[in-house]
Amino acid sequence: MSMYAVPDRVWAGSQSPIITPDDFRREWFRAFYDPDGFWLDVTRRLIHWQKAPTEGAYGDFHSVKHSPITWFADGRLNVTESCVDRHAEAQPDKVAILWEGDEPGDVRRLTYRELHREVCKTANALAALGLKKGERVILYMGMVPEAAIAMLACARLGAIHSVVFGGFSAEALRDRVRDCEAEMVITQDEGLRGGRVIPLKQVCDEALEGEHGVRKVLVYQRTGNPVGWKPDRDVWWHEAVGGASDERPATPVEAEHPLFILYTSGSTGRPKGVVHTSGGYLTYAAYTHRVVFDLRDDDVYACMADVGWITGHSYIVYGPLANGATTFMFESTPVYPDAGRYWDMVARHKITVFYTAPTAIRALAAHGEGPVKAHDRRSLRVLGTVGEPINPEAWEWYYNVVGEGRCNIVDTWWQTETGGISISPIAPATATKPGAATLPMPGIVPQIVDEQGRVLRGPGQGYLCIAYPWPGQARTVWGDHARFFTTYFSTYDGKYFTGDGCHRDEDGYHWITGRVDDVLNVSGHRMGTAEFEAALVFAEAVAEAAVVGYPHPVKGQGVYAYVVAQPGEVLDTAALDALNAIVRQRIGAHARVDRFQVVPGLPKTRSGKVMRRILRKVAEGRGDELGDTSTLADPEVVEAIRAGYSPG
Ligand code: WTA
Repeated sequence: MSMYAVPDRVWAGSQSPIITPDDFRREWFRAFYDPDGFWLDVTRRLIHWQKAPTEGAYGDFHSVKHSPITWFADGRLNVTESCVDRHAEAQPDKVAILWEGDEPGDVRRLTYRELHREVCKTANALAALGLKKGERVILYMGMVPEAAIAMLACARLGAIHSVVFGGFSAEALRDRVRDCEAEMVITQDEGLRGGRVIPLKQVCDEALEGEHGVRKVLVYQRTGNPVGWKPDRDVWWHEAVGGASDERPATPVEAEHPLFILYTSGSTGRPKGVVHTSGGYLTYAAYTHRVVFDLRDDDVYACMADVGWITGHSYIVYGPLANGATTFMFESTPVYPDAGRYWDMVARHKITVFYTAPTAIRALAAHGEGPVKAHDRRSLRVLGTVGEPINPEAWEWYYNVVGEGRCNIVDTWWQTETGGISISPIAPATATKPGAATLPMPGIVPQIVDEQGRVLRGPGQGYLCIAYPWPGQARTVWGDHARFFTTYFSTYDGKYFTGDGCHRDEDGYHWITGRVDDVLNVSGHRMGTAEFEAALVFAEAVAEAAVVGYPHPVKGQGVYAYVVAQPGEVLDTAALDALNAIVRQRIGAHARVDRFQVVPGLPKTRSGKVMRRILRKVAEGRGDELGDTSTLADPEVVEAIRAGYSPG
C-alpha cells in the first residue's frame, strides 16, 4: 500500500495549531493526558463565551446511564455570537455565505455584516410569532442561505432547531414534528434541484394534517409558484422578516442547553432524535474544521453536503462560521447541468477546500476526466470526503484527476452522534493511505474490540468504540435517554459503540469497514433496514420482508429486499414497483429498493430470529459461503433463496 507523504511546502497563513506530525503528536497526547485542560484551552481560544467555563467534562461512559455527560457546564454563551457577531465586528465585509443556486452563475454573497442583520431580523420575526427559548422548530427547506439563517435565528433565541432533509416524505416529516413536539415549522414554497421543483410547502401541509402542536409555519419564497395557504397558520418569510428590526441581543444559554435535534436512523424502525448541545458541540465543530482542513483566512471553503444532515450542520454552518470562514452553499447536484458542475464552480469561485462524499466522486469518475479537466482547479488545496468508506480507486481518482496530485486528501470518519470529525488525516500533518481514515483527532481515543468486548492492541480488526467523552458527542436521544444509553453504551461496558467495523494496521491507521449493525449507507445517506422493512410490510401483498445491503459500485451500498408474498398474492414486477412507491411515501424520495427477491420464506433460527448473516451473503452473491446453517428452523428455505438469486 502506497503512502502519500505530506507535500513539502510552506504552511504560512494557517489558523490551525497542527501543521506538522510533531504538532499532531503533541496535541493528541495533551488531550489524552489532560482532556479538561486541553478543551478548556481550545474553547477559550475559539469560542466567545459570555461567562467562560472553568469546568471540563463531568461524567463518563458508566455514569451516562443515569445522566448525560456535560462539558463546560458552568459556562454561558450564545453560539451566534461566535458564529456571527464577532466576525461582523472584526471583518464585516468578508463573505460569510457564498451561495450558488440551481442554475450556474445564480450567485448570492452574504457578508458577515449582512448575515448579522439577517439573523437578527429573523430572530425578531420568530420571537414576534411567539417562539421562545427551549421550544422546537422543524426546518424543512432546500439549500438556500435562509436555511442557515433560520438555524442561527433559532439559536439566537435559545430555541432548538431540527432540520429535516428536504427529501423526506410527509409521513417521515410528521413523525419528526410529533416526536420533538415542534411549535413551529420553517419551510419554502418550493425547492429547486437539478432543474426540478420540490414541493416543500405541499409536503409540509400534508405532514401537518392530523394532530400536532405546530402554531405557525414560516414560508420562504423561492420560486413564487402558487402554494396552499392557511391564513391563521402560515406566514411569508419576506413579510415577517422583511419588516423586523435588525438588532436582537443574543439570548445567553447554559453550555449544555440543546442547540439542535437531528433525526437519524438506527436499528429500529423509529428514527432517533440525536441531541447536540451548545458549548461542547460548537467547540468541537470549530476545532476540527480548523485543524483538519488547515483553515486559512482567505479560504473559499466548500462543503457539498445538505444542511439536512450532520455534515451540513457542522461543516457548512457551525464550524466554518465559528471560524469566520467563507462557507459555500450549493443548491443543486453535481451533474446539473452536466458532470462538470463542481469543477466549474471551483474555477469560478476559486474554491480552496472542497468536501464531498465518495458516492459523488464515484458517480463523477464514471463520466471520465473530460468534465474535470475542462475547468481550472489550481485554487484547490485540500480535498475531503465523508459519509462512507472510500474505495482506493475513487481515492486515487480524486487525488490524481481532481487534485492533480497536489492536494491533501482528508478521508474524514465521523457520525451524527460524534458531532464532528473523529478519525481523519489532518491535511498538513498526516501522511495518507488511499482508503484509510488514518488517525484519531486530539480528544478521541478509539478502541477496537472483539465480540466479547476485549480491547485489541496493535494491528487487528473488530468493532470500533471510543473510550472517553469528547465535547462534540451527542448528549442524549430526545425524550428517551434510556434509548440513548442502550443504543450506544450497553453493547460494550463503559464504551461508546459506533456501530462500525474497523481494521487497524501496523502503523496504527484506522480503516473503517462499514456498519456492522442494521444501518445502511446508501449514497452517503444513512438509513435503517428496519425502516425499509416497516414500509414494505405495510403493503397488503407482503407477508414478511427483510432488507440488507449489498456492495454497489456507485452508491457504496445498494438496498436488497427479500419479500414474502401473502398467501394468494403474486408479487410481479408491477407489484414490486408499487412497493417502491410505498417506500417513497413512507420514508422519502432518497429511499428506494434496488433489488427485490421474492422468496417463499425467510431463514430463521428455531427461536424465530431472522438470520441476516445468510441474507447478506446471498445478496452479496456469496451464497456458497454460508457456513453452518444447522441452527436453521427450515433449511429448505435457504436452498430456495440461494437458487432464486440471480446476479445483477
Ligand atoms: C459512515 C455522517 C467510512 C460510517 C458524517 C458512520 C464513514 C456513518 C466515513 C455515519 C468515512 C462516515 N469512512 N465510513 N470517512 N464517514 N462513515 O451519521 O458507517 O450520516 O457510522 O454521519 O457513516 O453516518 P452519519
